[in-house]
Amino acid sequence: MSKKTFYITTPIYYPSDKLHVGHSYTTVAADAIARFKRLTGYDVWFLTGTDEHGQKIQRSAEGAGKDPQLFVDEIVAWIKELWSALDISYSDFIRTTDSRHKKTVQYIFKRLFEQGDIYKGQYEGWYCTPCESFWAARQVEEGNCPDCGRPVELVKEEGYFFRMGKYSGRLLDYINSNPEFIQPPSRKNEMINNFLQPGLEDLCVSRNTFDWGVPVPFAPGNVIYVWLDALSNYITALGYSTDDETLFNKYWPADVHLMAKEIVRFHTIYWPIFLMALDLPLPKQIFGHGWLIMKEGKMSKSRGNVVDPMVLLQRYGSDSLRYYLLREISFGADGVFTNESMLQRINSDLANDLGNLLSRTLTMVERFFSGVIPAPAGDELQSDKELRELALSTPSHITELMDKLQLNSALEVLWTLVRRSNKYIDENTPWLLAKREEDKERLGTVLYNLCESIRFISVLLLPYMPRTPMRIWSQLGIEDLSRLHGWESLEKWGSMPTGVKAQRTDDLFPRLDIEMEMESLLEGKGSELKKKIKIKEQSPVEEKTEVKTELISIDEFARVEIRVGEILTAEPVPKTDKLLKLLVNLGEEQRQVVAGMAPYYSPEEITGKKVLFVSNLKPVKIRGLLSEGMVLAATSPDGRVLLTAVDGDIPPGSKIS
Ligand code: MSP
Repeated sequence: MSKKTFYITTPIYYPSDKLHVGHSYTTVAADAIARFKRLTGYDVWFLTGTDEHGQKIQRSAEGAGKDPQLFVDEIVAWIKELWSALDISYSDFIRTTDSRHKKTVQYIFKRLFEQGDIYKGQYEGWYCTPCESFWAARQVEEGNCPDCGRPVELVKEEGYFFRMGKYSGRLLDYINSNPEFIQPPSRKNEMINNFLQPGLEDLCVSRNTFDWGVPVPFAPGNVIYVWLDALSNYITALGYSTDDETLFNKYWPADVHLMAKEIVRFHTIYWPIFLMALDLPLPKQIFGHGWLIMKEGKMSKSRGNVVDPMVLLQRYGSDSLRYYLLREISFGADGVFTNESMLQRINSDLANDLGNLLSRTLTMVERFFSGVIPAPAGDELQSDKELRELALSTPSHITELMDKLQLNSALEVLWTLVRRSNKYIDENTPWLLAKREEDKERLGTVLYNLCESIRFISVLLLPYMPRTPMRIWSQLGIEDLSRLHGWESLEKWGSMPTGVKAQRTDDLFPRLDIEMEMESLLEGKGSELKKKIKIKEQSPVEEKTEVKTELISIDEFARVEIRVGEILTAEPVPKTDKLLKLLVNLGEEQRQVVAGMAPYYSPEEITGKKVLFVSNLKPVKIRGLLSEGMVLAATSPDGRVLLTAVDGDIPPGSKIS
């Protein structure tokens, strides 16, 4: 049986400048949807590209003193590099300067002219070059474009016009009888009330005061209006009207045209009308998501507040940036981008929740089973059942949300499983099970269930963070077992093989020092940053000697937050003989600390102990490892360092006052 097809597009981008992280948002979202559909068995076609003609590009090229073609070639090469760094899995990249595109656009224009939809006339009105948009006098707001707020120009040209009015009634009926066509629904109402109801004016579809465009085939000196040229990309790329229409027949009409809200108008009014005139079916859905904005408003070069995605990619990697974009912004609404919220997400969701889940689990598999995945045994307990049921229901829950393009909610659901798995560790306290020989079987079951849950999570991560799953599989020892990497492997619980050798290697997402990262993301603070790093890299043992005995007030004491912590894992810090890297459970969260305990405790002895923990110390880096807090210990008169004892009943996270 042939697979169901799915055709998704992004807008084609203007290569007038380098793209910012806002542009990456649409493309990453489209990529996650495309990957999800492929994973769930669809035959997907995913199109992106560049919109290279028009007055705006011509002026940018002139400003740069370059021939327009050379000018766009350079930026397009950069855009392709960006998409490759972001792991965008497009099927085709269309450039409107490709001859395959230009030929078909000329065919479309000629056909519409010959059938009487396009006629010759005189245009007199306003034009916004940044939006490449015509406006009637009544729509212009104090000399500015009603869309972007920049000044419009008066244009008087002989040109060709498209009879929009001929199709507007049909379009209104179509929109009203197909509620899924324009999404989210708020955008539909805007289109109907602001544009269709007041009546459409005929649209000027040619320009003759510059030449950077597709020539009107029968009228030298005229180029085709850039939006008619650009919108056609969705069918020219599929070979529409050429000798080989295989792709067109297979994938058209598109399932989703994805874009931000500012260009929904062109896609829900002009595009369907052009398609009706060509007697072609309309796309199934136009989805206009919100903008990624900065605190001070929309990201734009003219405001000087653009964020360069390449910088973020080089520093944090593509999976982290993709996760942040997809998770932080409620799909459809505007979302505010800040460096801080991105860094916090990376630390809390990726380093803490996901990274620790894998490292805690594999550290215990290593310590208690020499790294070999144990076999489950014995009866299923309540927590096992809950974990299994949640894992098995997560794929269909995510599918429901992805069908509505609610990407952030899909990730939220996936993280419910990540957090449930961490809670499963806390409920089952494997480090205590490890202490009694008779609990060994149960310990094996707990660790097996954790590995299987992590495997579920890894497969579900594929659309959003395509690199991380392979890293997880290789640590779990299943990188060569492709039958465990697919969607169908999530139909039943327990496919994780036992007896394979797992290997804990690097942290999936090392914790970031937010303060330091924030500074380094701001320009020109290099030297201050270096000073800071130097101070912070002192060892905690050295820091301790500086403490003087002096009296403090109760308020000063109250500033120190002390909690009960439980040491989950411990390992020596390589190339030191004093330091241990500890993972401490504080109830709601886990912290990594580096402590000078190695001369007094072995990792085995210290694991599982409850300790007093200073939880509001500023993080420091010790031997390149982030240390967030301090374990309190007493120094005995003979110089030995002993952990302060905490009653075993006090739960981790309890505050000491
Ligand atoms: N060339 C036209 C599209 C033609 S499609 C036939 C165009 N190009 S663009 O480069 O200016 O913007 C393309 C898309 O980038 C927007 O529709 C939107 O999807 C995305 N974004 C640009 N800035 C954005 C944000 N700040 N936030 C979210 N998306 C943003 O318009």
